[in-house]
Amino acid sequence: MCGIVGYIGNRKANEVLIPSLKRLEYRGYDSAGIALANNTTCQIIKSVGKIINLEKKLNKKDLDSYHLGIAHTRWATHGAVTEVNAHPQQYGKITIVHNGIIENVDNIKEKLQRENIKFKSETDTEVIAVLLNKYLESNFIKTINKVMNLLKGSFALGIINQDEANKLYIVKKSSPVVIGVGDNENFFASDISAINYFTNKFIFLDDNEIAEITQEKIVVYNGCNIISKNVNTINTDINDYDKKGYPHFMLKEINEQPQILKNTLTKYLNDIKLLPDLTSYQELHIVACGSAMYAGMIGKQLFEQQAHIKTYVEVASEYRYQEQLYNEKTLVIVISQSGETADTIAALRKAKKQKQDTLAIVNVKNSTIARDADNCLYTEAFEEIAVATTKAYTLQVALLSLLSLKLAYDKGYITDLDKYLKDFRQLPNYLKKVIAQDQKYQEIAKVIYKSKDVFFIGRKIDYAICLEGSLKLKEISYIHSEAYQAGELKHGTISLIDKGTPVFAIITDQSIADKTMSNLIETTSRGANGYLITTESLKTGFAQEIIVKDATNFVQPLLVIPILQLIAYYTACLKKCDVDKPKNLAKSVTVE
Ligand code: M6R
Repeated sequence: MCGIVGYIGNRKANEVLIPSLKRLEYRGYDSAGIALANNTTCQIIKSVGKIINLEKKLNKKDLDSYHLGIAHTRWATHGAVTEVNAHPQQYGKITIVHNGIIENVDNIKEKLQRENIKFKSETDTEVIAVLLNKYLESNFIKTINKVMNLLKGSFALGIINQDEANKLYIVKKSSPVVIGVGDNENFFASDISAINYFTNKFIFLDDNEIAEITQEKIVVYNGCNIISKNVNTINTDINDYDKKGYPHFMLKEINEQPQILKNTLTKYLNDIKLLPDLTSYQELHIVACGSAMYAGMIGKQLFEQQAHIKTYVEVASEYRYQEQLYNEKTLVIVISQSGETADTIAALRKAKKQKQDTLAIVNVKNSTIARDADNCLYTEAFEEIAVATTKAYTLQVALLSLLSLKLAYDKGYITDLDKYLKDFRQLPNYLKKVIAQDQKYQEIAKVIYKSKDVFFIGRKIDYAICLEGSLKLKEISYIHSEAYQAGELKHGTISLIDKGTPVFAIITDQSIADKTMSNLIETTSRGANGYLITTESLKTGFAQEIIVKDATNFVQPLLVIPILQLIAYYTACLKKCDVDKPKNLAKSVTVE
C-alpha cells in the first residue's frame, strides 16, 4: 500500500527521499512522486511505474538547493494509475502525500465543486489539499484540526504549506507514520525500515496527533494542545535488500526458513516458560487476514486437538464489524507479519475496547500491533520483502504450534514434553531436506503451469495447510486455485474437475487419511492429475507422491508448507510473473 516519507535538514532532500522511498517499495505501489520545497517554490515530479522512472526524471533536474521534501509511492485506490493521480497532490499553497482512504470524499468533493473548485485528479487526496488551502490561516495547526474534523476514514499525511516552507507537518489517523529524530535534521516515514539507516531515534504518533517538524525541533499536538512524546531508541536490523544470489526474494526467503526457525525457537525450546501461560483462558479468538489467518487455522486445529481449548478463527475484516461473544476468559490472538494491517489493527482495538486480553504474533518490531497488544511474540523472520509471505507465515505456524504444545503440557494432556521439544529442535534439519528436493517441485511446476484451475484438498489440519498452498499459488502465478475440505468436493466442486486438472491432496493426519485418499481417487477417476503429499507412515504408493518425514503432530504441518511454497514459486517463474511483486497486491494492507 502507499508509502510516505519526508525529510528536513542540511542534506539534499532528494538524496534522502529516494533511497527511503525505495525501502518502502516492498509494500506494493504503481506510481511514485516527490515534492521539494524552498522559500520560493515547490517542485513536484511524478511518474507511473517503478521508482526508477521517477529517478530518470529527477536526474535531468538540478535539485541541489532543496533540503526539505516529501515523497510517496501510490497503490491506487481512488482513480486510475496515472501521473495526475500520483502523489504529491497540490492545491494552492498546500502540497501533500497521503496513505489511507477518505470515506466521505464524494460528499466533500460535491460541495467543493458547487463552490466552483476544479479538481485535476480523481484522488481523495486532492480533496484534502483543497480543504487545507481553503481553511488556511496563520495558525496552521488550527487549519489542520478543522480539516481533520471534516474527514472520515484513515490517513497519514505529510504536508508542505508554502507559507511555512521551513516546516513539514504530519497527521495521523488510523494509518501508520513514524518520525525519525536526527541531529539537526528530521524524517518521517510509513515505517521505520525506510529511515532506520539515518537514525535510531523514533517518535510514534498516536491517532489524531499532528506533528510540526523543523530542522531542529519536533512539536506534537493533540487538537491545538502541545503534548509530550517519548523518543524511543530502537536499534533495528537494516535490511540490505540483497537477494544473496537468489533470483527472487521469495526464493531467498523460503530458503531462510530453517535458519530463522532455529533463531526464533531456540530460546523457547530451552525454556518453554518464556511463552505466555494460557491456562486461565476458556477460549481463544484468533483474528488475522490472508496467510496470517490461515496460520491461525492450523493453530486452531492444534489448540483444539492437543490442548482441548475451543478456538475460533476469524478474518479481521469481518471480526471488526461482527457481534463478538466474549467472556472474561477469552484471549484474542492477532497475527500479522507487518503489524500494520488496517483490519487486524481494528480487530485488536475492538477486543481491547471490550477489555479482552490480547496477544499479538508479529514480525515487524515496534509496529502498531506489536505496540498496542497486551503481549507480543515476535516471529523474528527479519524483513520479508516478497509480497507473498513465506518465512513469516511459517514462523507464525511454528509459534502457534509451540503455544499449543505448552498449553497441552500445562493442562496435563501431554506429559512427555521433551519428546516434542526434541522434534522442534530437529525441525530446521527436516526443513532443509524438504527444501533440498527442489528438483521435484520444479518438475511439478512444469506440468501445472499451463493449467486453468488447480485444487488442493485435505481434511482437518491438512485442509488448513491447503488454504495457504492455494493462496500462494494463485497470488503469484495468477492461476485460479481453490482449497477444499476433501469431503466437500462432491457437493459441487467436483464438476470442475476435467482431464488433467491438477489436484493436490495433503494427508498428514492419520485419522482421516483413508477418507482424503478416497476423495483424491474420486478426482483422478474423473481425469484429474492427482498429487499426494503425505508422510512416510501414510504413503500409499500413489503414482505422484511427495513424502515427508514422520514427525509429531506439532511439527508435521511445518514440513509440508515449503513444498507448496516452492511449487507456487516455480509455477509463477514459468509463467514469467513478477514473483516478488504480484500484480495488484500490496505487502502491507494499511487501508480497509
Ligand atoms: O501483514 P499481515 O500478516 O497482517 O498481512 C496479512 C495478509 O495481507 C497477508 O498474509 C497476505 O495474505 C499475504 N500477501 C499472502 O502471501
